[in-house]
Amino acid sequence: MSRALATTSTLSQQALPAGLDPARLPAHVAVIMDGNGRWASRRGLPRVMGHREGVEALKRTLRLCSDWGIGALTAYAFSTENWNRPGEEVSFLMALFERVLARELEALEREQVRIRFLGDLEPLPSGLRALIANATTRTAGNSGIHFNVCTNYGGRAELVHAARRLAEQAARGELDPASIDETQFAAQLHTAGERDPDLLIRTSGELRISNFLLWQLAYAELHITDVLWPDFDERALVSALLDYQNRQRRFGGVEPSLPPSAHQP
Ligand code: IPE
Ligand code: IPE
Ligand code: MG
Repeated sequence: MSRALATTSTLSQQALPAGLDPARLPAHVAVIMDGNGRWASRRGLPRVMGHREGVEALKRTLRLCSDWGIGALTAYAFSTENWNRPGEEVSFLMALFERVLARELEALEREQVRIRFLGDLEPLPSGLRALIANATTRTAGNSGIHFNVCTNYGGRAELVHAARRLAEQAARGELDPASIDETQFAAQLHTAGERDPDLLIRTSGELRISNFLLWQLAYAELHITDVLWPDFDERALVSALLDYQNRQRRFGGVEPSLPPSAHQP
């Protein structure tokens, strides 16, 4: 996986802060961007203002991860359960995704970001779907960070979808059920081709997964911070990375080891 921003990038890159070991950075960071509503409420603002500010936090995080050579950033933007929110909040979010994507596409292209949207995209407004298709195609060949935005994403829905795809292949006689293994299963997930996250960050202090990347997080290191997502900044990211670098990953063994290469591209 290529890490670097294009050398033609005109924006200055941030150096890796002292104290972080460049050789032991996570290759893939996943983030549950939580706490937008509370950030706004604490300021006496409508919840949606927290979402607007949350976009700035995401842009900051993407830029830092990219500058520091982190290979992939996967962000939870909208869950399959988030449709249960008030209609005005859902509409605001869809309009926000559309506006931000239209506005930022040029910068993503310039900075060699490869963007993908993971989830069931069918129920999204058609204007947003068109922008997503365009952004995905236009950035598909980019050599920089893989930026995955989980939109109408649910871990259980993803697993059911994968099981159905394999069952269909078996029913057509194209696949022997006995041959299904973890690699084949993972190839049917939205994240196919992406290595599993090494680090999961959840903001706003909630100690739960909320249906995010249920398969892929099997051996991720977890970092939960009380920082609300709109306040998530370089300091908060460094603190998550330092926490990660202090962990000993064992993958079920007794000695520290690297992620198993099985199921990784
Ligand atoms: C996360 O912030 C953003 C989305 C789920 C879209 P929340 O909107 O969940 O904020 P809180 O948790 O209510 O503070
Ligand atoms: C998880 O946050 C989903 C996203 C960040 C998109 P939620 O705020 O929806 O999760 P719960 O309801 O606290 O579990
Ligand atoms: Mg929340």
